[in-house]
Amino acid sequence: TDQYAVFGHPISHSKSPRIQQLFAIQTGQNLEYTAQDVSPEQFSERVKAFFGDGGKGLNCTVPLKELAWQFADQLSERAKLAKAVNTLAVQADGSILGENTDGIGLVNDLTGNHQISLNSKRLLILGAGGASRGIIGPLLACHPASLIIVNRTAGKAETIAGEFAGIGNISSCVYDELPNQQFDLVINATSASLSAELPPLPDGLLAEHGSCYDLAYANQPTAFVKWGHTQQAVHSLDGLGMLVEQAAEAFFIWRGIRPQTADIIALLNNERQ
Ligand code: ATR
Repeated sequence: TDQYAVFGHPISHSKSPRIQQLFAIQTGQNLEYTAQDVSPEQFSERVKAFFGDGGKGLNCTVPLKELAWQFADQLSERAKLAKAVNTLAVQADGSILGENTDGIGLVNDLTGNHQISLNSKRLLILGAGGASRGIIGPLLACHPASLIIVNRTAGKAETIAGEFAGIGNISSCVYDELPNQQFDLVINATSASLSAELPPLPDGLLAEHGSCYDLAYANQPTAFVKWGHTQQAVHSLDGLGMLVEQAAEAFFIWRGIRPQTADIIALLNNERQ
């Protein structure tokens, strides 16, 4: 049986083994997918051991995506730019390919599952960490009118905007500069959700018919999802759909078959308390 795993730290609450098992059943593929707690210190040894034992593919999650980017023998174009890798796959020659499926997963959830178009829209990303890096390339590929990264620490947002400047209309600002600006889509890529905190967002930030998307997900609505509802967002979504979509892209890279995601997203949604 072909072996796959997700490495992360912590990892015990990961939904990925369940999602990948559902994909395998749906597509008739024979594989095993486990969740393994791997600290940054253990990362390179554990990855080598996994592939050395014949493992076929890995997902890497927080806080290992940058290490996975460094580890890969080859990188896809979007992983190169993102400087973060969430999917490793063995190639025919034994080398390890690094890919990032987070951004395409987000775009597929927004545009495919929720019919939220990005073309010519004004996009705002909150936060300038690894989560932001992973999604910017695929968002810019949808030709938004503009994409602004806002961050507490200005320098980090400026650096990221500079790195992606060649592929679209991207700029950065700080939270004090948000009043009097409006956006069609606001994406929360800060780690603030995890502590139920909210970045300082002015009322009126969301344009009429605008939507909100939190990359984080939880059984209960996140603080940011709740904020979106108070701002009359058409959609105020959390990242469960993106989680399933990024997993589907990884499955496709490994197995060459694209699983259907709608039923699985519905199943996981129904299991929320
Ligand atoms: P990740 O890999 O999840 O993106 P990260 O690299 O630690 O994690 O980045 C976290 C991001 O969330 C940063 O942009 C951080 O802002 P700073 O760069 O200014 O530290 C942002 N962040 C975390 N808590 C926040 C809060 N309470 N309000 C606003 N931004 C917050």
